[in-house]
Amino acid sequence: MKEKFICKKPGKKSFAVIRRDRKVISPSMTREFDFVWQKAKGVYVWDIEGNRYLDFAAAVAVANVGHTNPDVVKAIQQQLKKGLHAGFPDFYNELPVKFVETLLKFVPKHLNRAFLSNSGTESVEAAIKLARWHTKKSALVAFSPSFHGRTMGSLSLTDAMPIQKERQGPFLDVRHAPYPYCYRCPFGKQHEHDSKECVNDYIYELEKTIRACKGNAAAIFLEPIAGEPGYIVPPKEFVKGVREVADKYNALLCTDEVQSGCYRTGKFLAIENFGVKADIVSLSKAIGGGVPLGATLASQKIMSWPPGAHANTFGGNLLACAGGIATLNYMKKRKLGENAKKIGMHMKKRLIEMKDKYKIIGDVRGIGLMMGVEFVKDEKTKKPGVAERKKILCKSSEKGLLLLPAGKSAIRLSPPLILTKAEADLGLDILEDSIKVVNR
Ligand SMILES: Cc1ncc(COP(=O)(O)O)c(C=O)c1O
Repeated sequence: MKEKFICKKPGKKSFAVIRRDRKVISPSMTREFDFVWQKAKGVYVWDIEGNRYLDFAAAVAVANVGHTNPDVVKAIQQQLKKGLHAGFPDFYNELPVKFVETLLKFVPKHLNRAFLSNSGTESVEAAIKLARWHTKKSALVAFSPSFHGRTMGSLSLTDAMPIQKERQGPFLDVRHAPYPYCYRCPFGKQHEHDSKECVNDYIYELEKTIRACKGNAAAIFLEPIAGEPGYIVPPKEFVKGVREVADKYNALLCTDEVQSGCYRTGKFLAIENFGVKADIVSLSKAIGGGVPLGATLASQKIMSWPPGAHANTFGGNLLACAGGIATLNYMKKRKLGENAKKIGMHMKKRLIEMKDKYKIIGDVRGIGLMMGVEFVKDEKTKKPGVAERKKILCKSSEKGLLLLPAGKSAIRLSPPLILTKAEADLGLDILEDSIKVVNR
């Protein structure tokens, strides 16, 4: 049978690994390129053929402090000599405590307790269980589109690609309200992004959704910026309205900061850009600097469940906590939030200029270094430019820029937050060259 490749035929070494992978690895994952990773440092990644790429994907918004960050590597190496894992759910240990004490200095004061885990989905599962425990209610409200993970609780909240939920029901009792995807308004309106009329429509739908829970809604789950669905930024007033609805119906507001957190938007938590406080916050991805780590944060009042109500084996793992402390300290030392804001503004300006030049760019959006570019076949009909997006992803990778898709026809730009202006321009030049070819 003829082998199928995503972009151009990969090199010999890559092909050999891809072949082995296809024999033994679950085929359920979506590989965007025939790219076989060899090593990474800072903002660069090398494939197994020895080619170097500028990384605007940061291993899916994980490498905020840069790949193989020297401080993170050193902390893990030092911890390796002392112990790898100490069974934190059963035995006290100082390192996880130190990690949480460090983390709590980065977040609003009311968040003063944490549950530790290993991934984004687990940090969302903990939020679901905690909200249900605290409120003694079981129904949940989430948004459409949204992505919160792939285990059964978080998958119940997720509403992104149909294949992710196919054959998996029954799910938890979750009701979905429309997320303000203003470029493709589900109400067919064309108001300004932050317009009152637009926000009122969404809040009206949200109230209708929560009322349908008949007083049983434990929580509203919100991505402050919808990541996987296309890096969609909601209007500020909408996020404030969600907080008000949660309060009105005695439900908790749980924000999923797995992708948007850790200074990606300039603020440590993306929700801080909207002037809103969440009751429970889920973090993961960038927080471990590359090691698997998740944290669910809440106030002591909310996180007051008794022993046995929730635990795991690897939460508080020593290597993860050592990496996590070094990651947080590095973010602070290098002022990565400020850099994300500064470089993000520069990139957005250039992307908006590109939007004016190339008709296949329908929308440019984002905050800090969490930016989405949505491609269309036609500016007027806004028909999603699915094939155009694919070609741009492939062309960019062939020219040495790694990017990832998001949503139906958008590309996400989520580089390491250590990116310099020169590196940002280099990546945008490659992206523009690829867009130019496809725009013809
Ligand atoms: C917002 C959000 N929540 C949850 C998850 C799930 O994280 P994980 O893949 O670590 O389980 C993701 C992953 O992309 C995410 O973007």
